[in-house]
Amino acid sequence: MSINYSEKIPNNVDLASDKTLQRALEHWQPGFLDWWKDMGPEGSLNYDVYLRTAVSVEPGGWAHFGYVKMPDYRWGIFLNAAEQDRTIHFGDHKGQPAWQDVPGEHRSNLRRIIVTQGDTEPASVEQQRHLGLTAPSLYDLRNLFQVNVEEGRHLWAMVYLLHRYFGRDGREEAEALLARRSGDRDNPRILGAFNEKTPDWLSFFMFTYFTDRDGKFQLSALAESGFDPLARTTKFMLTEEAHHMFVGESGIARILQRTCEVMAQHKTDDPAKVRSFGVIDLPTIQRYLNFHYSVTIDLFGADVSSNAATFYSSGLKGRYEETKQSDDHILKGAMYPVLEVVDGKLVEREAPMLNALNEKLRDDFIRDSVAGVGRWNKVMQKNGINFQLSVPHKAFNRQIGPLAGIKVAPDGRVVSQAEWDANAKKWLPTPEDRAYVASLMGRVVEPGKFANWIAAPVMGINKQPVNFEYVRFN
Ligand SMILES: [Fe+2]
Ligand SMILES: [Fe+2]
Repeated sequence: MSINYSEKIPNNVDLASDKTLQRALEHWQPGFLDWWKDMGPEGSLNYDVYLRTAVSVEPGGWAHFGYVKMPDYRWGIFLNAAEQDRTIHFGDHKGQPAWQDVPGEHRSNLRRIIVTQGDTEPASVEQQRHLGLTAPSLYDLRNLFQVNVEEGRHLWAMVYLLHRYFGRDGREEAEALLARRSGDRDNPRILGAFNEKTPDWLSFFMFTYFTDRDGKFQLSALAESGFDPLARTTKFMLTEEAHHMFVGESGIARILQRTCEVMAQHKTDDPAKVRSFGVIDLPTIQRYLNFHYSVTIDLFGADVSSNAATFYSSGLKGRYEETKQSDDHILKGAMYPVLEVVDGKLVEREAPMLNALNEKLRDDFIRDSVAGVGRWNKVMQKNGINFQLSVPHKAFNRQIGPLAGIKVAPDGRVVSQAEWDANAKKWLPTPEDRAYVASLMGRVVEPGKFANWIAAPVMGINKQPVNFEYVRFN
């Protein structure tokens, strides 16, 4: 089913056949547009941006590329096609038909899952709001806007579920999603990482690499859900999410490439000297990585959680690649290792796997993240630079769960408060690091030109050349 863009709300869910729902969503739409004008990309209202828009959910040709004035972007509601006779494939309801409607006894948990996911989408747009003003190229500006409009669409995806399946309280939650603000003292976004600032492009690329990847793992777990509409909508969101992580991975790789070129050219690995050439020194990149990684792995929640067990057993949220796991998909009696501090040392202990599913998902995320860091390290190798990035230990700088109570060095040693205080400036970005990175940020708008601190990409978007006019200012 291809999507009719002349409709007020483009969709493939036959919205026209449900007038009450259509009216409710059309009533929510102006609030969304107001939010976009207030909190979406600053100063972007009249630009023509070369964006992709979803036009179908067919894997082969789902996206259309063309110039769009950003506030006219058509945010639509797209669910992957229903799988015939789909059954629930994990938890206590395993083998029963997937739910096409919300099961009464799981209603409030399901709503909470949808709201928590939905809240992250507008939050990241708010966090990235000012970045357009300092984009290092038109290519990057376009990628930022692409990520932003798609996060806006992901909000639509969750709001559709709330309106369609949760009645009055769903509509109230949809309003609240437009009312919370990232970093707001009185009405913040729900999750910690989504209240942090994304003040510069190094942060943006780290965010899209790590924090959008959290999105990938959460969405993958929800794509297994026994609640079929949630599974279908998150599957399609994952298609878009892949580009966000590409922006992060390639963005960091290009920063590394540029830094390595300068280091090789001037034969120096002294961070101060490297900075004097207007590029970002590698230890600073490592500190940003440490920050974004640790803040992001907190998003998976407490390592032992009765909610995690409930969400799984009741069939609401599966594991990453649930169907590829070779166990019974019920997990009663199964165990999983979690970390604990004993006599000042981190030790593994076994916890019931059902309760440790947050930790399991976090470990899956870590494996995926580490693979990309390995690809970044190839940039240094190729340029003959003797420096390797690495992710810190998973107990480093944690704010959630039992690890929040202790201080752990990036190498996994439990350290005293005094040792932490003496070394934190080597492990996490300092105000000076942030001020230096901020000092490099300045808008580059000539097609094909890039800021000094970042290399050009290898390829353009949608087979366009790198010097394509990705954004037209009017
Ligand atoms: Fe998203
Ligand atoms: Fe994303």
